[in-house]
Amino acid sequence: MNEKNLNFLAFPDGFLWGVSTSAYQIEGGITNDWSKWESAPERLSNLLAQGKKSSEYESRQAANSWELYDEDFNLVEELHCGAYRLGLEWSRIEPVEGKYSLEAIERYKKMLKSLQQRKIKVVLTLWHWTNPVWLADMGGWSNKSAVDYFGRFVATCVREFGELVDMWVVLNEPMVHVGNGYLTGKFPPNLKKPILAYKTLQNLILAQKTAYGIIKKNTYIAKVGYTSLCNYITVTHKNNIFELILAKTFDYCWNWYFVNKTRKYVDFIGLDYYFVDRIVARPPFRAKISHDLTDFGWEIYPRGIYEVIKKASRYKLPIYILENGLADAKDTKRARFIKSHLAQVYKAISEGADVRGYFHWSLLDNFEWADGYWPQFGLYKVNRETFERTAQPSAEVYGQICKENGFWSKL
Ligand code: BGC
Repeated sequence: MNEKNLNFLAFPDGFLWGVSTSAYQIEGGITNDWSKWESAPERLSNLLAQGKKSSEYESRQAANSWELYDEDFNLVEELHCGAYRLGLEWSRIEPVEGKYSLEAIERYKKMLKSLQQRKIKVVLTLWHWTNPVWLADMGGWSNKSAVDYFGRFVATCVREFGELVDMWVVLNEPMVHVGNGYLTGKFPPNLKKPILAYKTLQNLILAQKTAYGIIKKNTYIAKVGYTSLCNYITVTHKNNIFELILAKTFDYCWNWYFVNKTRKYVDFIGLDYYFVDRIVARPPFRAKISHDLTDFGWEIYPRGIYEVIKKASRYKLPIYILENGLADAKDTKRARFIKSHLAQVYKAISEGADVRGYFHWSLLDNFEWADGYWPQFGLYKVNRETFERTAQPSAEVYGQICKENGFWSKL
């Protein structure tokens, strides 16, 4: 304890500090099911009718990381991070079914080697919601053959990149793809078809199992898992029985169903935590009780990360927080957000939770899917014309935490 009544929250030795990104959100110049949807005439005219500039809602050059990846890695070093979570873009590697792009494979190898030379651990995502157009044309993940195509892609990646990877993230947040792609229609393939949603979910479960087998057969050291978007789901009125039932059901379906089905096919649990979901027993079934919101309108609730870690601890597997962050263009809340969430991670660890790492989302401002470029999640801002990266003040705060493996806090 120092004179200001602060405690130094020292994280365990070897705790992995990192930052996360995904291929489609930062690389630029990609053609896949998303880019096709983004530029579809119907969508563009809808945006226009809402007075929105379509270029702000199309990924296009993103943060141009396909060219500027070494600059990104410099930033990861500047942050004193020991690890970087980045993604592969399937549509780049296999633009035509069964035909692999050597050029793309070589570029990814160069990237991963550069990280290895810098002694930055590689956490590599194989699938982060985007599909090659040829796969989407076959019905995407609602078609069971997608599992075999994915298996072949995974085998290629393991062969080409296996020696360069420390942790594999097979799937990113499969439930989000199922929910937004097949129930709300917000993401491609923009459907509202519960039966297809169910099929897609089952195929993604099979994909996790298949990929795990393929990777484990070929690599001995790398750890394999995936990420789940775990919201802290709770009731708004604590004695309301309907809310309790709804919240429990939603928590099980959204947060834990996939984990239960795949628990034997992972070496770790990858948690992505952003916000609290407060259930009410009438439409729209969700409430916000705090005014502490991100630019996206998500309620900031640090205690939620502790609650989801506690629940995930039941699986007795190492836990990595592979995403946690906020849209905060002015960077007025990010430093506080990071520290308050980390204080809760620290609390969970002191109570015995096996959390091995924390990755902030995101290194850079990037393409925030259907919401385009206005939500800014980056520790570094990106100039949309020059692609120049500029540190937000919170980058220094996070960098210091990573460097010191902890921080001073009022706990
Ligand atoms: C996704 C990211 C996304 C972030 C913020 C996560 O659920 O994996 O791709 O940018 O949330 O919305």
